[in-house]
Amino acid sequence: MDEVSTFTYKEFFNTLFTIPKTLRLIFILEKKYAYLIVILNLVTALIPLVNLYVNQALINSLMFSTETVIKILVLYFFIQCISTIFSQLENYMKEKFEANLSYSLNIKLMETTSALELTDYEQSDMYNMIEKVTQESTYKPFQLFNAIITAFAACISLFASLFFIGTWNGVVAVLLLIIPILSLVLFLRIGQLEFITQWKRADSERKTWYIVYLLTHDFSFKEIRLNNTSQYFISKYSHLKRKFINQDLTIQRKRAYFESLLDLLLNAVNILVILIMIFAVKSGEILVGNLISLMQALAKINTYSLSVIQSIYIVYNTSLFMQQLFVLLKKGETNRCRINRCYFAPQNINKLSVENVSYNYPNTTLALQDINVTIKAGELTAIVGQNGSGKSTLVKILSGLYTPTTGIIKYDNYTNNDLTTDFYQKNISVLFQDFVKYELTLKENIRLGDIFSEYTDDKIIQLLDRFNLEFLKVGGKYDLDIQLGNWFQEGRQVSGGQWQKIALIRAFLKDSSIYILDEPNSALDSVSEKEIFDYFIEKSKKNISIYISHSIDAAKNAKKIIVMHEGKIEAIGTHSELMKNCVYYRKLYYAEKFGEYHE
Ligand SMILES: Nc1ncnc2c1ncn2[C@@H]1O[C@H](COP(=O)(O)OP(=O)(O)O)[C@@H](O)[C@H]1O
Ligand SMILES: [Mg+2]
Repeated sequence: MDEVSTFTYKEFFNTLFTIPKTLRLIFILEKKYAYLIVILNLVTALIPLVNLYVNQALINSLMFSTETVIKILVLYFFIQCISTIFSQLENYMKEKFEANLSYSLNIKLMETTSALELTDYEQSDMYNMIEKVTQESTYKPFQLFNAIITAFAACISLFASLFFIGTWNGVVAVLLLIIPILSLVLFLRIGQLEFITQWKRADSERKTWYIVYLLTHDFSFKEIRLNNTSQYFISKYSHLKRKFINQDLTIQRKRAYFESLLDLLLNAVNILVILIMIFAVKSGEILVGNLISLMQALAKINTYSLSVIQSIYIVYNTSLFMQQLFVLLKKGETNRCRINRCYFAPQNINKLSVENVSYNYPNTTLALQDINVTIKAGELTAIVGQNGSGKSTLVKILSGLYTPTTGIIKYDNYTNNDLTTDFYQKNISVLFQDFVKYELTLKENIRLGDIFSEYTDDKIIQLLDRFNLEFLKVGGKYDLDIQLGNWFQEGRQVSGGQWQKIALIRAFLKDSSIYILDEPNSALDSVSEKEIFDYFIEKSKKNISIYISHSIDAAKNAKKIIVMHEGKIEAIGTHSELMKNCVYYRKLYYAEKFGEYHE
């Protein structure tokens, strides 16, 4: 955010360079309507001028025949009709344009955010940016486009009036130009202050959003009700919101103060100019008729300069925002190029080698340190270790969601650095520890594991039967179209363990080379746990299968057990080997079995 924290003219011009970029973006997204609106705007801007001429002709026609008067009146009526039609058309087109633009931009942004990296969502700065940009992008580009058109039209009218006065007295015209320029500098400073204030508080704003989310969803309701914490959250919310309101009001006060100061100055200059005009009449330099038109021009200058300043203020303020939008779009674009890089994605991987892999999260100590292990197909492997020992981090690295800080991973002979996202998408199925409970139908909850292949309902039902999901049967039959969860109409809520089984089926649906289950037993009863382990043994005969668990008992039948401790591999072996050779493993095993350490 440093780049916008101080006002320099270089940065000011840099910001203005986003204007052509925004226009290009708008014209790419909504070309037809953008042109149409520019044209309609020009036409409606010209109508008052035409009106002026017709009015003049009407007055002059009084000297001619009634027939001419009627002709001009008909013309007058005709122009009024056109004017009404065009301005209504312009309004409608603007609405349509705004709706279309925000729709296209939202789609573009969703494509961008899905091309970002997991680490982007885990850093609050980036997360704030994503939130703020996606929230405000619906109206900001249109606001900018509109303000540019208004500023442009008002500028033309302003300079026409200044020119009119300048032909009489150049010094007066320059004098009249000083105040708009002065106002502009002040307004831009306030615009920037407003932007920085809003941007800096993005994190706190997200906190208010989070409180509202907590207070309006079922998952948190139970705790909030029983612990009676709603008032706590409401006052936390008020504290933050009040701060925002005060910040906004401070800016508004500053704005009002400067505006009144400038208004006073403007009035003083106006009086001075009128005095000069009156003296010019008195000295016979100009006629009274000229005085009237000069005063009209003066009034126009006041109106148009205000309009120019206000529009430029909006242009600048929204451009600062657009700069951030472009940063995000560019990041997404770069990532998408990488993701979509056309690459041969090998399949049927039989061996996975982790070589000297370390990983550290930003601002933390090493979560993984010098990991070396080989996992082969047909060799059911378990990774055990206490909470925080690095198991889930390893899963995210193996599935390509994080790049190791040092070291490499080989999938057969392919190194992770040479592989693209589609490789992981084709080859790896993971049941994440924090799997998703899709508030969608049962069928969708399963099909989302592999939407690019065809599956018959029978195949899905087979899997449901295999995992004993009888509780989902209605009248002895599975209804794949039932809505799960309770966020939407006729939703059927299921238990945590039942959700986990559904997520497991989703992970098993895809025909992958590598299956990883991260704590699949966390919400399951011991019968289900055994069933799943048995299924996994069967499945692991021809695949690379990794079963992650904090519980040794659940994993002890694996062919190979990797023991993790504080980000490192403590030992590798079968259960009996480890019981014999690894003190730490034994300690874990007895602590689990008897609740205490036995040697
Ligand atoms: N997204 C994250 N950002 C920063 N640190 C993390 C993140 N996820 C996990 N960690 C840290 O990394 C370490 C290993 O975590 P994790 O791999 O989730 O352990 P496990 O799955 O074995 O319980 C922990 O100390 C944890 O605090
Ligand atoms: Mg974990």
